[in-house]
Amino acid sequence: MTEHVKVSVDNGVMEITWNRPEKKNAITNAMYKAVGEALDRASADKSIRVALFTSEGDSFTAGNDLSVFAAANSGGAAEPPQGHRLIHTLAKFDKPLVAGVRGVAVGVGTTMLLHCDLVYVATDAKLSTPFVNLALVPEAASSITLPARIGQARAFAMFALGEPVLGEQAVQWGIANAAVPADQVLATARDAARKLAQRPLGALMATKKLMRDGEILLQQMHREGELFAKQLKTAEAAEAFAAFAQRRQPDFSKV
Ligand code: COA
Repeated sequence: MTEHVKVSVDNGVMEITWNRPEKKNAITNAMYKAVGEALDRASADKSIRVALFTSEGDSFTAGNDLSVFAAANSGGAAEPPQGHRLIHTLAKFDKPLVAGVRGVAVGVGTTMLLHCDLVYVATDAKLSTPFVNLALVPEAASSITLPARIGQARAFAMFALGEPVLGEQAVQWGIANAAVPADQVLATARDAARKLAQRPLGALMATKKLMRDGEILLQQMHREGELFAKQLKTAEAAEAFAAFAQRRQPDFSKV
């Protein structure tokens, strides 16, 4: 259990809230486990028809906690990063998923949205996937889902340059359904989740199944995971994590 993830259920909608606002909701291993378990429960419980991701504070999530990556890089980690607890579950999750995104959504904060069926963002939301800046590679099957969604050129730029995509642009590119003022994101996402919860669940799940192949997504996650784990241990990743901790720009010319 961790207080950094809140889970509640109301009228068939499970709301899962990133709740570590002082760290921009950066995700620890305990948070991955908590969300994985919540989604497993949502899958198994017939009374839960939809899951909704949202957040406390000014950010959706700053992605994986970089101190967890740094510990894995230096060999000092008690356990390896547990991101798979979320992303593998997302690949298999067969009920509708909705997200309401305010502020930054970095790394897995953006790639998890590609597994959501309805996404509402703030007009000033900033979605980014700066894997290469961190000397890492794309995860959560985003190496296939992001190019499929927004095109190869834009996806490569997002991965390799790490520049954020703002709310309206995310809608134009097909990452999100609508961009609304930040103070309306939660209500908009909740309203959509409530509507889905009133639809026939069998038809919803069959539609979702027809629109995506969870097995292919899992296979790609395993391919990505091997390269990710390898990159995580490199000198270039050590430089990237040290630069973040020291609040400076990385210098990859030395490694
Ligand atoms: N892992 C660990 N801590 C993080 C974090 C992360 N991914 N993102 C933010 N934090 C922490 C900061 O270290 C800071 O902690 P402190 O107050 O104890 O110093 C706190 O959250 C606030 O972050 P800060 O950087 O001061 O806020 P900001 O508004 O200037 O910038 C971000 C916000 C998200 C743009 C910036 O923190 C950032 O780039 N984070 C890293 C994102 C990232 O690379 N994630 C991994 C993707 S794979």
